Amino acid sequence: MAVITFANTKGGAGKTTAVLLLATELARKGYRVTIVDADPQNWITRWYEISGKVENISVINFVTTASLPLHISENKHNTDYFIVDLPGARNPLLATAVGLSDHVLIPIQGCAMDARGGAQVLELLQCLEEKAGIRIPHSVVLTRVNSLVTTRALQLVKSLLEERQVRVLDTAIVERSAYRDIFDCGGTLHGMDPNRVSNLDKARENAGDLAYEVMLRVPVSLPAAARAGLADAA
Ligand SMILES: Nc1ncnc2c1ncn2[C@@H]1O[C@H](COP(=O)(O)OP(=O)(O)OP(=O)(O)O)[C@@H](O)[C@H]1O
Ligand SMILES: [Mg+2]
Repeated sequence: MAVITFANTKGGAGKTTAVLLLATELARKGYRVTIVDADPQNWITRWYEISGKVENISVINFVTTASLPLHISENKHNTDYFIVDLPGARNPLLATAVGLSDHVLIPIQGCAMDARGGAQVLELLQCLEEKAGIRIPHSVVLTRVNSLVTTRALQLVKSLLEERQVRVLDTAIVERSAYRDIFDCGGTLHGMDPNRVSNLDKARENAGDLAYEVMLRVPVSLPAAARAGLADAA
């Protein structure tokens, strides 16, 4: 099992949206996904409730610094990807979740000038490495990126990250209405009606690319049943 935490202490950076896209795409590929919904707004829990059963996904919606390690160890044999959606403010869960992660993903809005919330997470990761010798692999994922133009703000964020030698995922999450609608409709991008949701094909492709890149960077072995399913589909 791999534990992936989405962290940015700035509210609204796109953590919850990225968690949902990644979780649903990994589940679609046959991975068993457990999401910890530690966001006080409980968007993932609400999405899960209105969705009915979503194959390969389960959601834990009450977590504390004391219970998180227990949830991880209890689920390690029935989960491939354990994904944590943190609150958008400094919170005691941040250090605990980061310390227990195999990879930390830091969503930073490509359209906003303010990357400070992401910088706080990067500082925490650096502090863990320097003071405790614990190196947690991490990457930034750019979010809400304009599909048509590279804005000056995005270029600035990219060059700041390059200067600090922070790894950035090749796949940026594009601004898409489908990514908002999914929280109202429930289910996944693949259950939505392309006649009602604009650019749904592009949204699906973008979310698929994100999951593919995460699978490569944070590999776990696919369960045998899912391997067989993929082979049949090929
Ligand atoms: N790629 C995207 N395309 C369109 N809308 C997006 C995208 N990413 C995020 N949003 C919208 O931006 C808002 C904030 O996103 P989200 O809730 O995912 O951020 P967050 O980091 O989890 O916020 P918080 O810190 O409050 O938990 C939401 O209204 C969401 O629908
Ligand atoms: Mg959130």
